[in-house]
Amino acid sequence: MARRPMMAANWKMNKTIREAEEYMAALLPRAADAEGVDVAVFAPFTCLHEVARMAEDTPIIAGAQNFYYEDSGAFTGEVSVPMLQDAGARAGIVGHSERRENFCEDDDMVARKAARAVEAELLPVVCVGETKEERDAGDMWEKVSGQVRRVMEELDDPDGGSLVFAYEPIWAIGTGETATPEDAQDAIGQMRGLLRELRDDDFADGVRILYGGSVEPENAAEIMAQEDVDGALVGGASLEVESFMQLVEAAQETVPSEQ
Ligand code: PGA
Repeated sequence: MARRPMMAANWKMNKTIREAEEYMAALLPRAADAEGVDVAVFAPFTCLHEVARMAEDTPIIAGAQNFYYEDSGAFTGEVSVPMLQDAGARAGIVGHSERRENFCEDDDMVARKAARAVEAELLPVVCVGETKEERDAGDMWEKVSGQVRRVMEELDDPDGGSLVFAYEPIWAIGTGETATPEDAQDAIGQMRGLLRELRDDDFADGVRILYGGSVEPENAAEIMAQEDVDGALVGGASLEVESFMQLVEAAQETVPSEQ
């Protein structure tokens, strides 16, 4: 079963409402008919509603970059899954390394957020990845497998389409130092193997696993060509429509034509 590639823009803490509108106005006519590829835009909370409104009735998925696992209550500064859905979001990033590192999100919190999203049918994109020190010490797989295991423990009978993983080696994020296509395949292939072991073939063959970390128009085709890589989560190169569309096109190249 072929998995549908996903190309996801993670704007991080960038763009005003007006800039988001301009971006979406330029993106929609070009990306709306991107055959065979899911295109997602993860916007800051402040412009998410506008992004979702503009993407309504198009296949473009509007998503949030974070949320909390409780639905309401005394959690100052937080936004819940039902609030995101009310704003039009269909997806949400969970456990990005910038949140794990700068905002002290641990594996338990990430797992609870992922479970809440799956339950509410908001598509979580769950990020995992190792630091440079962990990689150099040969601990990549120990770190990544532990993160994946903790999320899977929290999920109640998920199917492969109910969540997405993203392997994002921390040393490659925003540094211009991309993992080699072989490094990406190695980690993502092992993740799929672990998911097969933890759950079953249907889940492992259906769940999408993206790569993230300095994906750019120059390296996207090679990364996307790897057997287990189902797309990319992109920061820097997603901020301009032109470079993001080049990545969407690279993803389209991997889709077998119907003829
Ligand atoms: P980058 O960010 O493409 O700028 O490296 C990727 C990410 O953090 O999702």
